[in-house]
Amino acid sequence: MDKFSIETPRLLLRDYETADTETFSQYVADPQFRRYLTWNLSSRESVDRFIAKTRQARTASPRLAYDLAATLKETGELIGGGDLIRNSEQDGDAWTGYYLKPEFWRQGYGTEIAQALLDFGFRELKLHRICALCDPRNVGSWRILEKLGMRREGLMKEHVRVQEEWRDSYLYAMLQHEWPSVKRS
Ligand SMILES: CC(C)(COP(=O)(O)OP(=O)(O)OC[C@H]1O[C@@H](n2cnc3c(N)ncnc32)[C@H](O)[C@@H]1OP(=O)(O)O)[C@@H](O)C(=O)NCCC(=O)NCCS
Repeated sequence: MDKFSIETPRLLLRDYETADTETFSQYVADPQFRRYLTWNLSSRESVDRFIAKTRQARTASPRLAYDLAATLKETGELIGGGDLIRNSEQDGDAWTGYYLKPEFWRQGYGTEIAQALLDFGFRELKLHRICALCDPRNVGSWRILEKLGMRREGLMKEHVRVQEEWRDSYLYAMLQHEWPSVKRS
């Protein structure tokens, strides 16, 4: 099977490998990293299942899920990741997300990952619409979406429960014809 990857100026976004499990488990366990996430990846077993699921998704035809590791091009270090997930090929829409180890925050990497995923989704997968959800308190996350021109379409009140806390989310979206490199062509 061909290896899937997306190159950005500083990063290589590639499929997860089993060897990533150790590093990934370390940073997903960090409370600072998890603060606004709704993931249930608290145990080593759940991380193993996540990595196995991402590897299974690679072989699906059509491929609907792109859960990608973000590594530094210079050193190969795993510093985070991002995803682009479709429910079906017919629907024409997808959900995206991104995450980084805390020591790599505020250096533009989150924007670089999200931009690459939107570009891949709109230009290669020809998606009609890409959406993202984020906790309103997660300023860095919605700043990324706004910098890339995504539209805040609403506030979803208490739509997700994490442990005992009901949380709000902003819904952001963009349509294919709004993506700059599609608009220009
Ligand atoms: C959210 C997250 C991905 C941001 O990534 P990042 O690489 O730090 O973001 P960038 O460096 O590309 O910054 C994008 C913008 O947000 C701003 N920003 C980033 N973090 C911020 C924060 N905590 N508070 C305020 N602004 C912030 C940056 O200054 C930048 O704006 P600017 O270009 O106008 O200066 C990162 O904090 C993270 O991985 N958090 C944990 C996982 C997570 O919550 N993921 C999002 C799920 S919805």
